[in-house]
Amino acid sequence: MSVLVTGGAGYIGSHTVLALVEAGIRTVVIDNLSTGFSTALPEGVPLFIGDAADENLVEGVIAAHDVSAIIHFAGSVVVPESMRDPLAYYRNNTMTTRNLLNAAVKCNVKNFIFSSTAAVYGNPDQIPVPEIAPTRPLSPYGSSKLMTEIMLHDVATAYGLNYVVLRYFNVAGADPQARIGLQTVGATHLLKIAVEAATGQRAKMEVFGTDYPTPDGSCIRDFIHVTDLAQAHLAALAYLDQGGDSVTLNCGYGRGYSVLETIEAVRRVCGRQFAVQMSPRRNGDIMTMIADTARIGRTLDWTPRYAELETIAAHALAWEEKLLQAREAA
Ligand code: UFG
Repeated sequence: MSVLVTGGAGYIGSHTVLALVEAGIRTVVIDNLSTGFSTALPEGVPLFIGDAADENLVEGVIAAHDVSAIIHFAGSVVVPESMRDPLAYYRNNTMTTRNLLNAAVKCNVKNFIFSSTAAVYGNPDQIPVPEIAPTRPLSPYGSSKLMTEIMLHDVATAYGLNYVVLRYFNVAGADPQARIGLQTVGATHLLKIAVEAATGQRAKMEVFGTDYPTPDGSCIRDFIHVTDLAQAHLAALAYLDQGGDSVTLNCGYGRGYSVLETIEAVRRVCGRQFAVQMSPRRNGDIMTMIADTARIGRTLDWTPRYAELETIAAHALAWEEKLLQAREAA
């Protein structure tokens, strides 16, 4: 029996593959390497370079590797890009999952874990946000993920599939041993930008909005360490293996740090100052996003280990320094 990971060469996918392999779980990856890196995979993990929407490929891999569960990461994740090109997002996220599910149903794969996002909530009425909060995505990215959640629910009901939907909050950090991390070119995430500034790759960074009605005026996010998130996928897999019912779970820690606090944490761990410019609000930003974690807490056997902001910042920084050294040596 093995687990098929689509998008396993990407940021969150590769950390999950590493965790699976370290747990002794046989793992096989499909990735089209559009944003992923084959070098992010541990040695010996079979990689099929292709699209998760390619039903022939998926069915072949399921049969050849005796796949009993699918963890589906493959997709597009950039909110502003989804505004410019929504059809690409409905194709890469919604339609791809439709094909993948069709292959899973045909091949009788019963367990499915899906990467969703807190973006499905849009602007929440309530903080922390529970899973039962209204879903009103503000971007085609969020809509494409929400449509997939709905499709998954219908497929599960019709064909007896079981799923766990994980709605990720702000994923950050890197493998604690700096073996892998975020390599995406041009990533816009706060911690990535901050560690680029801390390593001298940017002359300065900006804080988008310091006039929000929050304690320090900047936005607040529930940053979750990518290695803890990877472990949540293993816990979800165990839950389904033990016959758990289909469920949708927020994946965060239930606490928030402001943008300014996050930048301070990076400054502390790197021991250097870097220029930070206070800028106007960024269009479409939500003021505060914090997960209500009650449901994941009572559903999965999952104990986060890296919730300290400084730990997340330190791991992101260590990885960025390694990436920089590798680039300079090349
Ligand atoms: N920010 C800055 N300066 C920067 C980058 C970001 O001040 O250079 C601020 C943003 O304005 C925002 C906060 O840092 O207030 C977090 O921004 P990110 O871009 O890191 O993350 P978002 O919260 O906008 O988006 C993330 C994921 C999305 C997901 C969303 C769900 O990137 O994929 O969370 O809430 F949909």
